[in-house]
Amino acid sequence: MTEQLPVSKSTATKAAALPDAQTVTEVKHWTDRLFSFRVSRPQSLRFRSGEFVMIGLLKDDGRPLLRAYSIASPAWDEELEFYSIKVQDGPLTSRLQHIKPGDQIILRPKPVGTLVHDALLPGKRLWFFSTGTGIAPFASLIREPQTYEDYEQIILTHTCRDVADLEYGRLLVESLKDDPLIGELVGDKLVYYPTTTREPSAKTGRITDLLTSKDVFKDLGIQTMHPDTDRAMVCGSLGLNTDMKAILEGYGLREGANSDPAEYVVEKAFVG
Ligand code: A2P
Repeated sequence: MTEQLPVSKSTATKAAALPDAQTVTEVKHWTDRLFSFRVSRPQSLRFRSGEFVMIGLLKDDGRPLLRAYSIASPAWDEELEFYSIKVQDGPLTSRLQHIKPGDQIILRPKPVGTLVHDALLPGKRLWFFSTGTGIAPFASLIREPQTYEDYEQIILTHTCRDVADLEYGRLLVESLKDDPLIGELVGDKLVYYPTTTREPSAKTGRITDLLTSKDVFKDLGIQTMHPDTDRAMVCGSLGLNTDMKAILEGYGLREGANSDPAEYVVEKAFVG
């Protein structure tokens, strides 16, 4: 008869701390630097469109490797969608980019974030300023009914290096018109303003420069930005966030938070 070893305290603790696994249902590769994927949603997970969660994979030593990812799907979706860069030597994305439907990832069901409607005071026009994968929280918010109920106009700007980097957002915006759930709500309230910086396209230049030159206002037939009417959410590189803050403050908008709503909010996009 073999003697059964008692479970050591450390093993028991590890077992109790085992991460929440979710199943990958779909993966789309957009470019050699960008991909999106969908995973099952934990039944208990409630979140506000625009929030982020920690997701990741188990390392070889059995410990979880987690990074913050904005949820790109809206709060009403049965699954969760994420939009990610691929960094060839990035600890997580070098491995995450190889996931396939049926694989499992770890998802900590504790959503947080400042890019939420609650952090803004009521307004008329809502700007979403994004670069690169910073479009992810706005992919959620442009599918959120509250966005259209609360605002008369929504402007989504997306600045990327190349035209191919815009494809995820472009197709999503295009699909909203015919969306059976929110197509009617969206109507012609949503304005999409994509720009590229390293490849010629219909509009080239950083959004920050296009704001400073007032090209954006001319292109969209808007006079200016004003704290009485305009609200903004910003998500992208550190540079974008810093530059946009200065521009928005220049128009008299103040930074808000969940606990202290104001005219704009900022969050850094996941970087690798
Ligand atoms: P640029 O090509 O002029 O650097 P990345 O791929 O490096 O994350 O950049 C994504 C996009 O964000 C690029 O088009 C890049 O423009 C743009 N970008 C980088 N920094 C800023 C900034 N401070 N303000 C506006 N756009 C920026």
